[in-house]
Amino acid sequence: MLKRVPFYWKLTIAFAFVIMLILMIDISLERISEVKLRFFLIIAVTVILSSISAWMIVRLTVRPSLSKLAQGMDKLAKKRFDVRLNENDKDEFGHIFSSFNVMAVLISSYQTELVRAKDFLNSILESTADIIISVNARKEILTFNSGAEKALGYMREEVIGKPIEMIFADPEEREVAIKRLKYGDNVVNFETKFLTKSGEVKDVLLTLTLMRHAEGTFVGTFGISKDITEMKRLQNQLIQSQRLSAIGEVFIGIQHSMKNMLNTCKGGAYMVRTGLAKDKREMFEEGWEIVQIGIDRMSDLSKDLLKYVKDWKPKLEPVDLSKVLSDIDTEIRKSAKDKGIEFHLDIAKELPEIPCDAPMIHSVMMDIVSNAVDACFWKDYSDLEKPNVCVKAYLRNGRDKAVLEVADNGCGMTEEVKKKIFTPFFSTKSKAGTGLGLSITSRMIEVHNGNIDVESEPDMGTVFRIMLPMNVNLKNKEISDGKESAGN
Ligand SMILES: Nc1ncnc2c1ncn2[C@@H]1O[C@H](COP(=O)(O)OP(=O)(O)O)[C@@H](O)[C@H]1O
Ligand SMILES: [Mg+2]
Repeated sequence: MLKRVPFYWKLTIAFAFVIMLILMIDISLERISEVKLRFFLIIAVTVILSSISAWMIVRLTVRPSLSKLAQGMDKLAKKRFDVRLNENDKDEFGHIFSSFNVMAVLISSYQTELVRAKDFLNSILESTADIIISVNARKEILTFNSGAEKALGYMREEVIGKPIEMIFADPEEREVAIKRLKYGDNVVNFETKFLTKSGEVKDVLLTLTLMRHAEGTFVGTFGISKDITEMKRLQNQLIQSQRLSAIGEVFIGIQHSMKNMLNTCKGGAYMVRTGLAKDKREMFEEGWEIVQIGIDRMSDLSKDLLKYVKDWKPKLEPVDLSKVLSDIDTEIRKSAKDKGIEFHLDIAKELPEIPCDAPMIHSVMMDIVSNAVDACFWKDYSDLEKPNVCVKAYLRNGRDKAVLEVADNGCGMTEEVKKKIFTPFFSTKSKAGTGLGLSITSRMIEVHNGNIDVESEPDMGTVFRIMLPMNVNLKNKEISDGKESAGN
């Protein structure tokens, strides 16, 4: 009640009360004079009259303006941003009203901007096909866009306020994604599975973001997911068909090689039969030799196929390459000599031990040297030239790589052939090759972290260079138990 009494009234009442008190004390002590009494009465009347006139002035002048301002404020608070006050007054109130109007215009324009921005964001959220779901700190669904409704089959009213786990095929996967958020505010393209209302499982790529207040407190998560079910299906189909086509190619290669070898055997068998029928021992023996060649090639093919499908893991050890190359020299020199081909071996002096898998490198060198011998065999030499194959081993400048080089002056290769030599089953040797040698060789070099370099000119010859890294830390290198080694 007292609160509603204006301040100047309170002051007046207090003042009157003090004067009354003084008067009463003086009267009771009988020491008041008439002059003093009059003086006090005049002061009291003056104060009361001034208070009344002040109150009248406030009521008539300030109050209407204040109540206008109060009404304006009320309307603003009720979001009636079109409210304006009359600015015609020339006094301070005119100034306050004009500031009020400016403020109302500003609030109104901010409000319009906010509404527009919100509509814009909503239209993006609603028009995208992506699944956009926000979740509060209690893991309850806050928003669910129409992309989510279409993809998951729920209406938003059915899921808002429900636990987010309900849409995960495996709720633990969400926990995995959330744990990854520890390392940053985003988890991008996390592959997971959602469960639709009808129980269908959908593959999705989820990008999850932490939502925080300006001061940094966690308020929930915001997830944008892309339905990749169809893409995954097509991808699997593609992988399947690629697998089938790769298997198909291998079968065609095997069938082709087998056909050639069977034809060799058939030809030999025909000669054996005719030799027997006509009692021609020579023909019989020649036919039998051809059958034998066919059988040997089939056995080579079966060995190569086994090598081809093997998962090669090198057993790296310091290897004395001169030992490996001398073995090859012994194995090849005789057959090369029989074909009139010279064979040279040139190993650099003080060649250190090379970290490699000796049986694998032996197999690699045997294949490349055999190819070189074949290439010499297929070329017609002039009298001035002699077929020769030269094998060298040395360290490259910088001593970071060991180089194994096989050079021949055989038939060489066209660019077209050179491009295909590492393709499985590619061979220009018709019935005499499986076409698997170099594809196995390149894989063996690859697992050594090495590389192969080929230079070739038709009718001039070919140089194969194998580079093996020297700086291999044998202690840290994963060394297999040796079962995979080429020699086993
Ligand atoms: N030294 C070489 N000179 C000419 N051609 C070569 C040489 N080495 C390899 N080739 C070509 O590469 C092809 C593939 O070789 P490879 O994979 O060992 O299979 P194959 O020896 O069974 O034919 C050979 O058929 C041949 O055409
Ligand atoms: Mg070969």
